[in-house]
Amino acid sequence: MVGHRVRQARPRAPCHESNAPGVSDALYLSMRVVNIAFPPAAIGTLVTGVLLSLGTKWGLLQHYWVATKLALSVGVIVTGITLVDRLIRQSISAPSGQAVDDSTILGIASAPTTLLISLSVAHALMLGAATVVAVYKPWGKTWFGRRKGVRPSQGGK
Ligand code: HEM
Repeated sequence: MVGHRVRQARPRAPCHESNAPGVSDALYLSMRVVNIAFPPAAIGTLVTGVLLSLGTKWGLLQHYWVATKLALSVGVIVTGITLVDRLIRQSISAPSGQAVDDSTILGIASAPTTLLISLSVAHALMLGAATVVAVYKPWGKTWFGRRKGVRPSQGGK
């Protein structure tokens, strides 16, 4: 399903409509790479993460650090599917980053290329945060984890 939705997205505007063909070609290539690499990487992250959670003492929703990683990963995947492809297509149409009114800060900030770069930085920060959270495992148990921990045969963290 993820792959289907990502692959569906293709630029409606052909590259020759762009006023900067080199940038358009680079963006189009990056979109193709994203469309090929993203679905298996996203599915792989979720499947291995969920299996690892359920197969170890950590559980899927029993510790805040695991739940946080799940939320961060789902956030990256959902915004990647819904926004990245669309922003790349819009950037191909306006590769120089022109927005509605590019003379204002708001215009520059809302340009598709600016949003695309911002989203990529946000994704990198979210995945970095997931890595840090995985290593330090902060915040203890969730309500589900505490509830499960009271059963004598199933110890928690
Ligand atoms: C891109 C996202 C993710 C990154 C960068 C990441 C990173 C890591 C890292 C570096 C570790 C090793 C920690 C250590 O050895 O102390 C780890 C372990 C773990 N991850 Fe992830 N992870 C991600 C996604 C997920 C997801 C989505 C889940 C669950 C739904 C998950 C669940 C776990 C669990 C339970 C462990 C501990 C395994 C153990 O120590 O037995 N991860 N992760």
